[in-house]
Amino acid sequence: MTHLETIGPEALRADMVRALHDQDAITSPSVAAAFTAVPRHLFAPDMPLERAYDLHGIMPVKKDVHGLDISVISAPHLQAVMLEQADIEPGMRVLEIGSGGYNAALIQEIAGSDGEVISLDIDADVIDRARQHLDTAGYTRVKTVVADAETAVVGLGLFDRIIVTVATWDIPPSWIEALTTAGRLVTPLTVCGTTRSVAFKRDGDGLLSLSYRLCSFVPMQGEGAAPDRKIMLRDGVALQTDDPQVPLDAKALDRALAGDRLERWSGAAYDLPDELEWFMTLNLPAPARLHASQDVIDSGLVEASARLGVAALVSADSFAYRTRRPNSATGSAGFESGVVAHGPHAEELAAQYAELLRKWATDYPRRGAATIRYVPGPAPDVLPQGTVRKCHGYVDVTWA
Ligand SMILES: C[S@@+](CC[C@H](N)C(=O)[O-])C[C@H]1O[C@@H](n2cnc3c(N)ncnc32)[C@H](O)[C@@H]1O
Repeated sequence: MTHLETIGPEALRADMVRALHDQDAITSPSVAAAFTAVPRHLFAPDMPLERAYDLHGIMPVKKDVHGLDISVISAPHLQAVMLEQADIEPGMRVLEIGSGGYNAALIQEIAGSDGEVISLDIDADVIDRARQHLDTAGYTRVKTVVADAETAVVGLGLFDRIIVTVATWDIPPSWIEALTTAGRLVTPLTVCGTTRSVAFKRDGDGLLSLSYRLCSFVPMQGEGAAPDRKIMLRDGVALQTDDPQVPLDAKALDRALAGDRLERWSGAAYDLPDELEWFMTLNLPAPARLHASQDVIDSGLVEASARLGVAALVSADSFAYRTRRPNSATGSAGFESGVVAHGPHAEELAAQYAELLRKWATDYPRRGAATIRYVPGPAPDVLPQGTVRKCHGYVDVTWA
């Protein structure tokens, strides 16, 4: 028996809460109390205890036919961050979109005996499982609903808080309309394949961000699923985009990758990669996301920045993406940002990319420099940089 196996769930839970505190994921007494009260292991009884209480560990619930997760119980760290962003108070009416049971139980703890929690999921198997575990853990007051969140929020009444726990490419008007005047929507908003958990307040008919944090979620299913184009350049190298204007020619871009590699250094500090990545994604004129497998990275063909996906600037026959190298002269983080580019227009794309790297490092190298607006309704024909067209409206991101 290992040391961990001899520790009971209460001690593991107390350790988890302490660590979430130390990492600033938990910042309020109410969220700390909820994580202390809810027995997380009861929502994944097959999971070893130490995995159930792993700060960054997800608990798998359901996979698709390709073996990819379509439902998981999210990691405690991310749940804590989002609950803090939501700022739930006792007595509130809260809707959780995307169910698993555990997070709904945390919300019920915070909303208290006068609060009301509805947890909604498109998948009846997920709801059956969540219902069973909620009842076992004593959270019989949480209501569970099987429905597609794209259309099902109409008719559920007004909510003080809506917390979405599935990647959201667009925001249906009914989610905004279901918020009380002082209501808050916390949702993992995806732009060109990269996602931030955004806490929004109402702003007229639309939404205005209060905070945002890097996150990753399983994809939305049903009517609100993200439009996505993905091409494989070769085994282990893919480019994806949700921007219909971006040309994605697999043959031409693989030819570019097989050809010469151009490296240009920005002279600027590489720091806060999640903030930098958000800026690049919103400001590149033709953004896509470059992914490479570990094998391809180990072979030296593509930089390590592409392992979890990196913003790429793409033209019909060339592309450029960011990398970094040690250089303590550029700042305290000890790295300089740079660009790797391939194809006949590599020089031109690298120069454009490097200019943006320098702009971010000079003007916005800090957390929370972006303000995100969601504007419902038709978008103007010509959108300024930083603005992204969606189906129900558009996202407008500005930096200050
Ligand atoms: C990450 S899981 C939810 C985790 C959960 N909140 C927890 O306790 O940690 C995301 C869930 O969203 C659900 N989902 C996907 N598309 C949906 C949709 N259109 N409407 C409602 N639920 C959806 C999936 O079935 C999946 O169970």
